[in-house]
Amino acid sequence: MSLATHYLGLSLKNPVVASAAPVNAQLDHLRRLEDAGAAAVVLPSLFQEQIEAEAALHDHLTNSAAYNSPEASDYFPPTAAGPYGVGPDAYLDLISSARAALSIPVIASLNGSSEAGWIEYAKLMQQAGADALELNMYFVPVDIALTGQSVEDRYVDIVSAARKATTIPLAVKLSPYLSSLGNLAQRLHKSGANGLVLFNRLLQPDIDPVTLRLVEGVHLSTRAEMPLPLFWIALLAGRTGASLAASTGVENADDVVKYLLAGADVVMTTSAVLRHGAGHVTGLIRDLETWMEARQFASVSDLRGLMSWKRSSHKERYGRPSYIKMLETGVVG
Ligand SMILES: Cc1cc2nc3c(=O)[nH]c(=O)nc-3n(C[C@H](O)[C@H](O)[C@H](O)COP(=O)(O)O)c2cc1C
Repeated sequence: MSLATHYLGLSLKNPVVASAAPVNAQLDHLRRLEDAGAAAVVLPSLFQEQIEAEAALHDHLTNSAAYNSPEASDYFPPTAAGPYGVGPDAYLDLISSARAALSIPVIASLNGSSEAGWIEYAKLMQQAGADALELNMYFVPVDIALTGQSVEDRYVDIVSAARKATTIPLAVKLSPYLSSLGNLAQRLHKSGANGLVLFNRLLQPDIDPVTLRLVEGVHLSTRAEMPLPLFWIALLAGRTGASLAASTGVENADDVVKYLLAGADVVMTTSAVLRHGAGHVTGLIRDLETWMEARQFASVSDLRGLMSWKRSSHKERYGRPSYIKMLETGVVG
């Protein structure tokens, strides 16, 4: 039986990839993920603000007036190393040591929201040994004057700049809150993205009705969050030329199977690994094999996309007719 797959042009031994998480900044954890069978690892993101803060500090120290980014310095005072305690230089070291320590592909991650000098950092990540780069587009259009077109153009500009700066494979991690994802996916692919990661989770603050304060925090995902990425993977599979990585809600091998049936090239997991430890990956792969054996699938490529929109003989079930039918049946489950 073959679990092998391709993602971003990389050959992977199986479709289970450890997605970005703070613990992926620890070499020991990365080794455990590899030992557990992960086919590739994504490092936690280095943030645009960190890179700009460092550039501002350098600028300040060298007394040049050319660079001015007070906002970035506010978020990341020059001594701060960003949310994961890994500054830009340490991040490059992390890439090099992960590359040296592991035999599976190491995917670096850059998180930003506007095209600017920081994207040049992609080149340094490539030089440090990253096998691929994931661009984590975390943009929140709080300015309600922004048009959907301008938001999408911004994404395309970032990808084009990253493509110019590097020759390694590029993935783009998106949020689901975009107006016409299929069209954007095509544009991103044409601009140089080799793959898409669907999706990152936008973290919205909650409101505490007692203290009247905003409550912020990262919650681990649950399987209840899977239908949205599952739907979009199924809708886009085989239609844009880009590889597809499924991200969100994977808890067990059934979830991996569902994403593969929808058309994912790889299935990523963060929350389940944070909950159960790196060894959880072993169970995902073993149970995927058991599932395939029981149904006599000889390879992952035999089952990939079987339930995608493209291969479906009931395409209407992905669209408006299905919505109306569901409401008509009145089944609330
Ligand atoms: C604590 C935590 C930190 C994360 N940090 C990053 C990050 O640095 N960059 C990134 O692209 N995604 C980050 N993510 C998102 C995950 O990589 C993943 O896309 C998301 O959690 C959905 O997958 P899951 O349901 O398997 O957790 C983070 C998620 C969690 C829970």
